[in-house]
Amino acid sequence: MAIVLWPGDISYVDRIQSLLAAAVGNPSEQSVMALLNGTYRESGARLDMIFDGPELVGVVGSLRIHPGLAEILHMAVDAPYRGKGWGRMAIQHLRTDVYPDVWLMAETDRDAVGFYAQLGFHVTSLGEKYPGRERFQCVLKP
Ligand SMILES: CC(C)(COP(=O)(O)OP(=O)(O)OC[C@H]1O[C@@H](n2cnc3c(N)ncnc32)[C@H](O)[C@@H]1OP(=O)(O)O)[C@@H](O)C(=O)NCCC(=O)NCCS
Repeated sequence: MAIVLWPGDISYVDRIQSLLAAAVGNPSEQSVMALLNGTYRESGARLDMIFDGPELVGVVGSLRIHPGLAEILHMAVDAPYRGKGWGRMAIQHLRTDVYPDVWLMAETDRDAVGFYAQLGFHVTSLGEKYPGRERFQCVLKP
Protein backbone atom coordinates (compact mmCIF):
# COMPACT_ATOMS: atom_id res chain seq x y z
CA MET A 1 0.00 0.00 0.00
CA ALA A 2 1.20 3.49 -0.82
CA ILE A 3 -0.50 6.83 -0.37
CA VAL A 4 0.44 9.65 -2.71
CA LEU A 5 -0.78 13.21 -2.63
CA TRP A 6 -2.49 14.76 -5.67
CA PRO A 7 -1.49 16.68 -7.85
CA GLY A 8 0.68 13.90 -9.12
CA ASP A 9 1.12 11.79 -12.21
CA ILE A 10 -1.29 13.25 -14.79
CA SER A 11 -1.93 9.81 -16.27
CA TYR A 12 -4.16 9.03 -13.26
CA VAL A 13 -6.62 11.86 -13.97
CA ASP A 14 -9.24 9.63 -15.62
CA ARG A 15 -9.14 7.12 -12.77
CA ILE A 16 -9.37 9.87 -10.18
CA GLN A 17 -12.32 11.38 -12.04
CA SER A 18 -14.24 8.11 -12.03
CA LEU A 19 -13.44 7.52 -8.34
CA LEU A 20 -14.58 11.02 -7.41
CA ALA A 21 -17.74 10.51 -9.45
CA ALA A 22 -18.57 7.53 -7.19
CA ALA A 23 -18.38 9.82 -4.16
CA VAL A 24 -20.63 12.64 -5.33
CA GLY A 25 -24.34 12.67 -6.05
CA ASN A 26 -25.33 13.21 -9.71
CA PRO A 27 -21.79 13.68 -11.01
CA SER A 28 -21.18 15.43 -14.30
CA GLU A 29 -17.80 15.50 -15.98
CA GLN A 30 -17.70 19.27 -15.38
CA SER A 31 -18.47 19.05 -11.68
CA VAL A 32 -15.84 16.38 -11.16
CA MET A 33 -13.24 18.39 -13.09
CA ALA A 34 -14.19 21.42 -10.98
CA LEU A 35 -13.37 19.38 -7.89
CA LEU A 36 -9.98 18.39 -9.27
CA ASN A 37 -9.01 21.79 -10.58
CA GLY A 38 -10.69 23.92 -7.92
CA THR A 39 -11.18 22.20 -4.61
CA TYR A 40 -8.12 19.96 -4.87
CA ARG A 41 -5.76 22.43 -6.51
CA GLU A 42 -6.63 25.90 -5.35
CA SER A 43 -8.78 25.67 -2.24
CA GLY A 44 -6.38 24.12 0.21
CA ALA A 45 -8.04 20.72 0.27
CA ARG A 46 -5.87 17.63 -0.12
CA LEU A 47 -6.58 14.52 -2.19
CA ASP A 48 -4.77 11.38 -1.11
CA MET A 49 -4.51 8.59 -3.65
CA ILE A 50 -4.38 5.00 -2.39
CA PHE A 51 -2.32 2.52 -4.39
CA ASP A 52 -2.15 -1.26 -4.36
CA GLY A 53 1.20 -1.61 -6.14
CA PRO A 54 0.76 0.32 -9.40
CA GLU A 55 -3.07 0.27 -9.17
CA LEU A 56 -4.89 3.37 -7.99
CA VAL A 57 -7.65 1.78 -5.89
CA GLY A 58 -9.13 4.74 -4.05
CA VAL A 59 -9.09 8.39 -3.15
CA VAL A 60 -9.85 10.36 -0.03
CA GLY A 61 -10.24 14.13 -0.09
CA SER A 62 -10.13 16.26 3.03
CA LEU A 63 -9.85 19.81 4.28
CA ARG A 64 -8.92 21.31 7.62
CA ILE A 65 -11.85 23.66 8.15
CA HIS A 66 -10.82 24.81 11.62
CA PRO A 67 -7.61 24.32 13.65
CA GLY A 68 -9.29 21.50 15.54
CA LEU A 69 -11.52 20.05 12.83
CA ALA A 70 -10.96 18.41 9.44
CA GLU A 71 -13.69 17.36 7.04
CA ILE A 72 -13.57 14.31 4.81
CA LEU A 73 -14.93 15.73 1.57
CA HIS A 74 -14.86 12.64 -0.65
CA MET A 75 -14.06 8.98 -0.08
CA ALA A 76 -14.18 6.29 -2.72
CA VAL A 77 -12.68 2.87 -3.30
CA ASP A 78 -12.91 1.31 -6.76
CA ALA A 79 -15.74 -1.26 -6.80
CA PRO A 80 -13.61 -4.42 -7.25
CA TYR A 81 -11.46 -3.40 -4.29
CA ARG A 82 -14.27 -2.65 -1.82
CA GLY A 83 -14.61 -4.71 1.33
CA LYS A 84 -10.87 -5.41 1.51
CA GLY A 85 -9.84 -2.78 4.05
CA TRP A 86 -8.68 0.00 1.70
CA GLY A 87 -11.24 2.49 2.98
CA ARG A 88 -10.27 1.76 6.56
CA MET A 89 -6.58 2.25 5.67
CA ALA A 90 -7.35 5.59 4.03
CA ILE A 91 -9.15 6.89 7.11
CA GLN A 92 -6.42 5.55 9.39
CA HIS A 93 -3.87 7.41 7.26
CA LEU A 94 -5.77 10.67 7.76
CA ARG A 95 -6.18 9.96 11.47
CA THR A 96 -2.54 9.03 12.11
CA ASP A 97 -0.43 10.85 9.55
CA VAL A 98 -2.40 13.92 8.48
CA TYR A 99 -4.75 15.02 11.27
CA PRO A 100 -3.52 13.31 14.44
CA ASP A 101 -4.94 15.80 16.94
CA VAL A 102 -8.16 17.04 15.40
CA TRP A 103 -11.77 15.95 15.14
CA LEU A 104 -12.64 14.29 11.82
CA MET A 105 -16.05 14.86 10.27
CA ALA A 106 -17.81 13.42 7.24
CA GLU A 107 -21.29 13.82 5.82
CA THR A 108 -22.75 10.91 3.97
CA ASP A 109 -25.89 9.01 2.98
CA ARG A 110 -27.47 5.76 4.13
CA ASP A 111 -25.36 3.65 1.74
CA ALA A 112 -22.05 4.59 3.34
CA VAL A 113 -22.98 5.52 6.89
CA GLY A 114 -22.24 1.98 8.10
CA PHE A 115 -18.67 2.34 6.92
CA TYR A 116 -18.06 5.36 9.14
CA ALA A 117 -19.94 3.76 12.05
CA GLN A 118 -17.74 0.67 11.71
CA LEU A 119 -14.64 2.85 11.97
CA GLY A 120 -15.78 4.37 15.25
CA PHE A 121 -17.38 7.58 14.01
CA HIS A 122 -20.32 8.88 16.04
CA VAL A 123 -23.30 9.11 13.66
CA THR A 124 -26.13 11.64 13.80
CA SER A 125 -28.98 11.86 11.29
CA LEU A 126 -29.36 15.24 9.60
CA GLY A 127 -32.80 14.24 8.34
CA GLU A 128 -33.88 14.53 4.70
CA LYS A 129 -31.46 17.27 3.74
CA TYR A 130 -32.40 16.68 0.10
CA PRO A 131 -35.83 15.34 -0.93
CA GLY A 132 -35.95 11.62 -0.28
CA ARG A 133 -32.30 11.48 0.82
CA GLU A 134 -31.48 11.24 4.49
CA ARG A 135 -28.00 12.49 5.30
CA PHE A 136 -25.79 11.66 8.25
CA GLN A 137 -23.05 13.54 10.05
CA CYS A 138 -20.22 11.28 11.18
CA VAL A 139 -17.69 12.53 13.74
CA LEU A 140 -14.52 10.92 15.10
CA LYS A 141 -12.86 12.37 18.17
CA PRO A 142 -9.09 13.00 18.19
C1 LIG B 1 -17.75 3.43 1.47
C2 LIG B 1 -16.42 2.91 0.88
C3 LIG B 1 -15.42 4.05 0.75
C4 LIG B 1 -15.84 1.84 1.85
O1 LIG B 1 -14.55 1.45 1.39
P1 LIG B 1 -14.06 -0.07 1.57
O2 LIG B 1 -12.63 -0.15 1.16
O3 LIG B 1 -15.01 -0.99 0.89
O4 LIG B 1 -14.19 -0.26 3.14
P2 LIG B 1 -13.36 -1.30 4.07
O5 LIG B 1 -13.19 -2.59 3.34
O6 LIG B 1 -12.14 -0.63 4.56
O7 LIG B 1 -14.40 -1.51 5.26
C5 LIG B 1 -14.10 -1.14 6.61
C6 LIG B 1 -15.26 -1.66 7.46
O8 LIG B 1 -16.46 -0.96 7.11
C7 LIG B 1 -17.47 -1.89 6.68
N1 LIG B 1 -18.16 -1.27 5.55
C8 LIG B 1 -17.62 -0.87 4.39
N2 LIG B 1 -18.56 -0.29 3.61
C9 LIG B 1 -19.71 -0.37 4.30
C10 LIG B 1 -21.04 0.05 4.04
N3 LIG B 1 -21.35 0.67 2.88
N4 LIG B 1 -21.98 -0.19 4.98
C11 LIG B 1 -21.68 -0.80 6.16
N5 LIG B 1 -20.42 -1.21 6.48
C12 LIG B 1 -19.46 -1.00 5.55
C13 LIG B 1 -16.73 -3.14 6.27
O9 LIG B 1 -17.54 -4.27 6.39
C14 LIG B 1 -15.56 -3.14 7.23
O10 LIG B 1 -15.96 -3.67 8.47
P3 LIG B 1 -15.01 -4.75 9.25
O11 LIG B 1 -13.71 -4.04 9.48
O12 LIG B 1 -15.77 -5.09 10.46
O13 LIG B 1 -14.83 -5.89 8.31
C15 LIG B 1 -16.65 2.22 -0.51
O14 LIG B 1 -17.67 1.25 -0.38
C16 LIG B 1 -17.03 3.17 -1.63
O15 LIG B 1 -16.16 3.73 -2.28
N6 LIG B 1 -18.35 3.38 -1.86
C17 LIG B 1 -18.83 4.25 -2.95
C18 LIG B 1 -18.57 5.73 -2.67
C19 LIG B 1 -19.13 6.16 -1.34
O16 LIG B 1 -20.24 5.79 -0.94
N7 LIG B 1 -18.33 6.98 -0.62
C20 LIG B 1 -18.65 7.44 0.72
C21 LIG B 1 -19.52 8.62 0.72
S1 LIG B 1 -18.70 10.05 0.18
